[in-house]
Amino acid sequence: MTSNFKPTPRSVAGPSSPSIPIHKKITFIGSGNMAEALIRGLIEVAGTPPENVICTDTREDRLEVLRMRYGVRTSTANTAPLQVSDILVLAVKPQVMYEVLEEIRPMVLPKHLVISIAAGIPIHAIESALGGAQRIIRVMPNTPALVGAGATAIAPGRFVAEGDVALARELFNSVGKVVRVDEEALDAVTGLSGSGPAYVFMIIDALADAGVKVGLSRDIALLLAAQTVMGSAQLLLETGEHPGRLKDMVTSPGGTAIAGLHTLEQGGLRTTLINAVEKAAQRSAELGSMYDVVEGG
Ligand SMILES: NC(=O)c1ccc[n+]([C@@H]2O[C@H](COP(=O)([O-])OP(=O)(O)OC[C@H]3O[C@@H](n4cnc5c(N)ncnc54)[C@H](OP(=O)(O)O)[C@@H]3O)[C@@H](O)[C@H]2O)c1
Repeated sequence: MTSNFKPTPRSVAGPSSPSIPIHKKITFIGSGNMAEALIRGLIEVAGTPPENVICTDTREDRLEVLRMRYGVRTSTANTAPLQVSDILVLAVKPQVMYEVLEEIRPMVLPKHLVISIAAGIPIHAIESALGGAQRIIRVMPNTPALVGAGATAIAPGRFVAEGDVALARELFNSVGKVVRVDEEALDAVTGLSGSGPAYVFMIIDALADAGVKVGLSRDIALLLAAQTVMGSAQLLLETGEHPGRLKDMVTSPGGTAIAGLHTLEQGGLRTTLINAVEKAAQRSAELGSMYDVVEGG
């Protein structure tokens, strides 16, 4: 379900501005949380004129919110904006994707670049639902895109040109960092960065609990925990240093950090995280094969 989440100003760990603004006409089919993150990035970072962005959704109240916030054009009919669009971003939940694909199929033309952010739905399934040789890019973003600090993997389909990939990169660069992978790697991406925000929020919550345990107020403990996670990630990304070296920099002989690290090793933190990512990647593959079955009939 769509929340009332209103993104706050972009963090310093946010995206790099693309060199050329996107002036293509883009339609979002399904305009929930993830679509809003992208719309905001497109308009506020990539310099896309709001009139070039069209949002569809079943809920008029949701479209009203997006009109008010970003000045975009909207429609409750998924097919209405397709004729004037260059890029279609499929941003509905996977459960309704096949219904939407069937609905838009007669209006999807060779000129359209189709970008799907739906978890688990394979490119070949979208191709066959749309009736053939369509340019499709499958993408796995994550929720920090809402504050411009997303981690996105893009996987091009077989009919996609390099220019299409560059365009998709630009789009997702406006809400964070982008990597290109083969489609087979998307389950691994889902296990790591797609699901990763959940792990990190649990870690931050646990660190805040720990702060309270050793005598800090809840507010202070939470702020220190969240800022420490964000700052450490930023330090790593900006310096390009290996995490082991950065860890060594805070670990003095006989000091506090090594005492804490020893406890984390005893608790199996490293193994637990590896197992978590592996399990989530396996679950992603399982869910993907269920959608394959749906496609098959
Ligand atoms: N959130 C994440 O962490 C994340 C990460 C990676 C990928 N994704 C993918 O991103 C996609 C969107 O996720 P989200 O979190 O943005 O979901 P969301 O907030 O629920 O947005 C989906 C929107 O589509 C609307 N909708 C439902 N049926 C529709 C139809 N037939 N035509 C047009 N619009 C329709 C929904 O309305 P109702 O609310 O009334 O149903 C909702 O406003 C999903 O496929 C998900 O797998 C999400």
